[in-house]
Amino acid sequence: MLPRATVGVLFFLGIVPSMAQESRGHISVVLLGATGDLAKKYLWQGLFQLYLDEVSNGHTFTFHGGAQAELERGRKLMYDHLKDLACPLDVLPNRCAVMKDQFLRLTDYRQLKTEEDYATLNQEIQTLLVQEGLEEAGRIFYFSVPPFAYAEIARHINSSCRPPSGAWLRVVLEKPFGHDLHSAQQLADELKTFFQEEEMYRVDHYLGKQAVAHILPFRDQNRKHLDPIWNRHHVERVEIVLKETVDVKNRTSFYEEYGAIRDVLQNHLTEVLMFLTMELPANVSNSEDVLRSKLQTFASLQDLEKNSAVLGQYEAYNSHVREELQKGQDYFSRTPTFAGVLVHLDSLRWEGVPFILTSGKVLDERVGYVRVVFKNQAYCTQHEATWDPEGSQCKPKQLIFYIGHGELNSPAVLVSRNLFKPTMPGSSWKELLDRPQERLFGQRLSDYHVYVPVAERDAYAILISRIYHGKKESFITTENLLASWQFWTPLLTTWANEVPRVYPGGQENGHLLDFEIAGGEVSFVVKETLEVMDARDRQTPDKYKTIQSRFRQSHLITAWSEELVTRLASDIETVAMSAIRRSGEFHMALSGGSSPLALFKQLALHHYGFPWRHTHLWLVDERCVPLSDPESNFGNLYEHLIRHVRVPYFNVHPMPVHLNRRLCVEEDKGPELYANEIGALVANASFDLVLLGVGTDGHTASLFPHSPVGLEGNQEVVFTESPIKPHQRMTFALPLINKAKRVWVLAMGKGKHDIVTVVSRAGNEPKKWPISGVNPTSGQIAWYVDYEALLG
Ligand SMILES: *[C@@H]1O[C@H](CO)[C@@H](O)[C@H](O)[C@H]1NC(C)=O
Ligand SMILES: *[C@@H]1O[C@H](CO)[C@@H](O)[C@H](O)[C@H]1NC(C)=O
Ligand SMILES: *[C@@H]1O[C@H](CO)[C@@H](O)[C@H](O)[C@H]1NC(C)=O
Ligand SMILES: *[C@@H]1O[C@H](CO)[C@@H](O)[C@H](O)[C@H]1NC(C)=O
Repeated sequence: MLPRATVGVLFFLGIVPSMAQESRGHISVVLLGATGDLAKKYLWQGLFQLYLDEVSNGHTFTFHGGAQAELERGRKLMYDHLKDLACPLDVLPNRCAVMKDQFLRLTDYRQLKTEEDYATLNQEIQTLLVQEGLEEAGRIFYFSVPPFAYAEIARHINSSCRPPSGAWLRVVLEKPFGHDLHSAQQLADELKTFFQEEEMYRVDHYLGKQAVAHILPFRDQNRKHLDPIWNRHHVERVEIVLKETVDVKNRTSFYEEYGAIRDVLQNHLTEVLMFLTMELPANVSNSEDVLRSKLQTFASLQDLEKNSAVLGQYEAYNSHVREELQKGQDYFSRTPTFAGVLVHLDSLRWEGVPFILTSGKVLDERVGYVRVVFKNQAYCTQHEATWDPEGSQCKPKQLIFYIGHGELNSPAVLVSRNLFKPTMPGSSWKELLDRPQERLFGQRLSDYHVYVPVAERDAYAILISRIYHGKKESFITTENLLASWQFWTPLLTTWANEVPRVYPGGQENGHLLDFEIAGGEVSFVVKETLEVMDARDRQTPDKYKTIQSRFRQSHLITAWSEELVTRLASDIETVAMSAIRRSGEFHMALSGGSSPLALFKQLALHHYGFPWRHTHLWLVDERCVPLSDPESNFGNLYEHLIRHVRVPYFNVHPMPVHLNRRLCVEEDKGPELYANEIGALVANASFDLVLLGVGTDGHTASLFPHSPVGLEGNQEVVFTESPIKPHQRMTFALPLINKAKRVWVLAMGKGKHDIVTVVSRAGNEPKKWPISGVNPTSGQIAWYVDYEALLG
């Protein structure tokens, strides 16, 4: 059966273009989930706006609401929503009433469940086109349904409701798009079997918020002002914030699986970050260029570490979860409802600039904004009272994209007057001058150029218009989505079993959720209020410290791992200072593996006084891979230490595993070359410090049990074979290690407990346990072993 109001009405309403005006074809819009919440709140209104905006531009439209409900019931539910459609302020009431009437006549409801339902819809669209003598321009399917329903609907559309060739198909998808990298990839793979990439429009409604949607155009239109200052030399920090006052009551079945990071940071705030930081393409209206540039920016995000985030959970959350998910009183959720994350980018433009992404529920106010704070590089000699009101160079300099709510209660763009007067498109933004005394971020509004939209538009209305215009840069491509999950998933994994800080909610939060940046990490300003600690953990350390201060008749330093690494780093600095006082230089050889990474980080971030200028860095061992390979020990040393400190280029000595464009070939004589270099630079080939690790099989450096070379003899550097990949290695031999003035062995983690126990009792048996052969001839050895490795 054909929809009630459609046939003939296009002519009847006079909205089929007259013969004189060329028709650009017909567009069918299908809203799936037409009776749902999102449709009711935003989508129908957005479609009505589309109709108002575009009907006179040559296209004709029909709108089809689809849902699971059978015809009568569904129709009633849907028309209940439709009768509430509002008229935009910029449309005259009379015209709006006429347009609304037309819109309703062009709209029908249909049950869309089975393959046949979709085939019928397809048939009816075609019949209509024939009757009205129209060409088909395209079809939009808006999926306002839960993701588990995607695949089936996608299959039906693909097999029974695709437009004929020549007309386009656009399917619009709503988040969540997966839960982590793996699930996002699965969902993407599935959708890919039904739709082409260019047919899919994944909505992040934040990209339709007026202030967010204006970031790129603003950067483009103000290149002249921004080009010189949009970089690490001028930007002090950037805050990207979405605060909410509501809780998640009635939504815990969704929220418990997601939490603040997945719900807001992974998508909305990350997208905003990209718009702010990406290199601006020459033409910001070119979707492909924008999307390409965005992907490049994803690639420059620095990996997040555990201490890149602080997480919180509002106090009543657990009771909401227990109630709604029928959990017992002993159920404690670890889902964060608040997150503050520090992001850094590895790019010449942004290196070192902190980007703070924050969002939470049950906070003191509802507000969203991006705040770019510029460094203040002027000093004003005159007294503050005489500072130029039009913008003294000493007043704060800020650029704010105010997304909504909060004190301004409107989207806005604010630029400190002492920065520049921005170019804004007069047709869509106007200057706000009537509230000069109000304050925002420490300044009066009169200190800013303030612009607000001429007409406020809902995000969905904006995005629906962009779907219609095929502007893909406002949507999330598959590559974009996966890049974002790739960035966030490791942090989510790291935090999965940690307990977030509990906060009471609202004003009562006080300073509990304030956090600060130090050494590339974030932590709460108010340190832990409630310490949950095992009493046993508190008592044993001291006891063992006194009992076992020697290990294999040598010096033992033991502590919890973090403390141990801190101690080791400061001991290294002490030794470096004294070596340099004595001989003018410090030669240190470092091992690969995962344990030293924490040490490198500690040295890079907390030892500003370290005498890097006079320090030489050598490698104890190396894997036979190119130095840029993620498996390369040198690569890791570079990544975690060298590139953060001021060690002279010529003091860095990677092992020559890659010679003559091949890896570790005997004839290339890599070991001899390295031994010669050591001989030439290190007096008596005696290092000031050799730092070793120990493997669970007793190996140290890349000297493995029963190695035919390196455990004795007079070779100093040798090739060896590892039982694990990559097998080929180059390594210091034991005799070279034993010439050192100091050899320190670092062992951390439960996994090392067994070998530490074995080694504590073993004699000198290097064939069996190479580590037991480390006995400096005239130097000293010390053991840095954490409690977990020592005590298990
Ligand atoms: C999509 O539809 C086409 C044409 O009907 C069909 O050949 C193809 O197998 C469908 N794809 C899937 C994954 O069902
Ligand atoms: C939660 O659901 C209950 C029952 O459906 C309803 O009465 C209440 O208003 C809802 N609360 C919120 C915050 O939506
Ligand atoms: C920018 O790109 C858009 C979309 O591809 C195109 O229509 C427009 O002509 C381009 N502008 C310039 C100046 O190249
Ligand atoms: C090198 O060895 C010689 C002889 O063993 C010794 O006298 C000298 O002090 C050593 N030099 C250094 C810098 O260790």
